[in-house]
Amino acid sequence: MPAITSSSPGKIILCGEHAVVYGAPAIALPVFQLNTKTTILAQPSAPEGKVRMIAPCIGLDSDLESLADNHPLKATTALVMQKMGVTRLQACEIRINTTIPIATGLGSSASVTVSLARALSAFLGNPIPDELVNQIAFEIEKLHHGTPSGIDNTVVTYQVPVYFVKGEPIEHLKIRHPFTLVIADSGAASLTAETVARVRERWLADKERYDTIFANIADLSREVKENLEKNDLNQHGELLSRNHELLQALGVSTPMLDDLVNCALQAGALGAKLSGGGGGGNIIALVHHTQADSISRALEQQGAVRTITTTLAPGRGA
Ligand code: PMV
Repeated sequence: MPAITSSSPGKIILCGEHAVVYGAPAIALPVFQLNTKTTILAQPSAPEGKVRMIAPCIGLDSDLESLADNHPLKATTALVMQKMGVTRLQACEIRINTTIPIATGLGSSASVTVSLARALSAFLGNPIPDELVNQIAFEIEKLHHGTPSGIDNTVVTYQVPVYFVKGEPIEHLKIRHPFTLVIADSGAASLTAETVARVRERWLADKERYDTIFANIADLSREVKENLEKNDLNQHGELLSRNHELLQALGVSTPMLDDLVNCALQAGALGAKLSGGGGGGNIIALVHHTQADSISRALEQQGAVRTITTTLAPGRGA
């Protein structure tokens, strides 16, 4: 049997993170320069059910059986089998390689789950539909993040820009005019589960204040969506920078993220914000295409450990 492979992109959040957990809309974009590839190879001479799971990104090379039941890779495997009504798995080696840095708000956990779920169902002879992949990835996101909104698994599963509202049908956001983003990694890892939990504590302590911030972020996401139709890059940038200020007010930015945002603006970006859970991870800057290189260099001089330039174009994600 030939090896089965499946790949999934990374993602960024253009607008609306954290508020999306409380029902506000948010916009997420797939990033195809980052990706996870799962390869499954049958091992006909090994005993049935013996599954070797190799994931160098987390230093894992282990028999599936010896992992805890709530280990996300074991839980994904079990959930795919359960949803497919399958109880036996042919001996195999599952290798997961990802170029997405872990815990930096770029969707590594969702990307790993989605590529594993797709590869495994294909290996079992019946590739599962996107809706089921998304459901499985959402369950596994709960293991990673506690109370996820579902935005990461959705954008990574469908691999299109999404305007996402928790509990509502998925809205594919059509990109009508190209725009360029520089993504810059602060080099600090941060667990989304922790930043989401911190925001929840603050919200519980002062609901009025935080509900107002969430409502303001919701307005921004709606405006960004409208603006994508109009193609007013200056306004788009302005909206992203205002989103960053509201994320600062939520307490999820850091001095390093603020420095990178300011650096991008000083270097000529039209707007910039942290992207994802915050507390570390990445910022994104909206830039004129011709300035992407100089802004990336400025961000690297400011301490970004890596930058990626990505252009959203009609008909596809980043
Ligand atoms: O996985 P991250 O760090 O991109 O965070 C996802 C966005 C949050 O709104 C912070 C959490 C969520 O589940 O929506």
